[in-house]
Amino acid sequence: MLKVLILYSSTDGHTYKICKRISERIEKSGEADIATIADANIYNLDSFDRIIIGASIRYGKHNPKVYEFINQNLQLLESKDSSFFSVNVVARKQDKNTPDTNPYIQKFLSKSEWKPKRIGVFAGKINYSKYGFIDKHMIRLIMWIGNGPTDLSGEYEFTDWAAVDEFSDKLVGSI
Ligand SMILES: Cc1cc2nc3c(=O)[nH]c(=O)nc-3n(C[C@H](O)[C@H](O)[C@H](O)COP(=O)(O)O)c2cc1C
Repeated sequence: MLKVLILYSSTDGHTYKICKRISERIEKSGEADIATIADANIYNLDSFDRIIIGASIRYGKHNPKVYEFINQNLQLLESKDSSFFSVNVVARKQDKNTPDTNPYIQKFLSKSEWKPKRIGVFAGKINYSKYGFIDKHMIRLIMWIGNGPTDLSGEYEFTDWAAVDEFSDKLVGSI
């Protein structure tokens, strides 16, 4: 049975939610474990057939711990059928929702030595009420600049769950 480890970096939990969805999909035909990048060392990474790393964007960056983990485990990642996905709100735009067109994926690929076999990019979520004063107003400004929703009482989930499912199915080779 295919064994998959999903490692993630998330600040507000949306990347974790996407990981849960991926794991549920994988578990139709295999086994999937989910852990934060910080907890990855509790696993014997070599015992998994596939490794997936998912990370969200905050102020233009993936968490530096993601790059640290990748650098420390580069050989292993290259030797497995490994995948990467990024979660950001720029990906809500039709012209920025593929690995080739999303600026954060392009930045990731230029910064990381790892060339994942599969790459995904998913639009995230904005939940203004969860953020502190500065983040709330910074995000609102970013959304205003990008013609996104600016109502501070709103919660906006932009994720295309069908695209997440397709990514998961390709990963286990069912499509
Ligand atoms: C403080 C903050 C900064 C963010 N900066 C960016 C950004 O620069 N570009 C972007 O596309 N999305 C940005 N986002 C949107 C997040 O990527 C999105 O909310 C995502 O769903 C967060 O995932 P997480 O809950 O797993 O951390 C930001 C969100 C917050 C709260």
